Amino acid sequence: MLKHLRTKNSYFITLPLKSDKKRGDLCFGEARRHIPFVIKRIYWIFNVSSKKQRGGHAHKKTEQVLFCLKGSVRIKLDDGVNKDAIILSKPNIGIFLGKMLWHSMMDFKNNSVLLVVASEFFKEADYIRDYNTFKSATQKQ
Ligand code: TYD
Repeated sequence: MLKHLRTKNSYFITLPLKSDKKRGDLCFGEARRHIPFVIKRIYWIFNVSSKKQRGGHAHKKTEQVLFCLKGSVRIKLDDGVNKDAIILSKPNIGIFLGKMLWHSMMDFKNNSVLLVVASEFFKEADYIRDYNTFKSATQKQ
């Protein structure tokens, strides 16, 4: 049972998983069917010390889905009002992060690999990297 999230613009996505005891497992996702946007960019984060954090920002427009392909990662979410903390540890279960959601990734364990698919090309202007700016923007919405 997946945890109910209080933060808005966020939910779990379970991808189809083809388990094969003889040959190994395969997981897939299709744009618009499983991933709720057309994927314009992918990136992955790895070689992160368990003491370090990534993220620590929100996006004005970009939507993303995060999958932990190996190991486990804690994700903290904050929509300006509500907060959540979840752990991703199954390669077929991702988390959708919509716009204006402050997120941080930490506790990267067992050589974690975090795959991210994104709805937009990289653009620094889409980032809000200052928490107070984010907080006041959410209060105007
Ligand atoms: P950053 O946003 O700080 O990573 P994180 O989300 O883990 O905190 O990005 C690190 C660097 O990589 C920064 O210089 C921007 C650059 N970058 C790109 O050029 N393209 C991308 O798609 C991403 C995600 C980052």
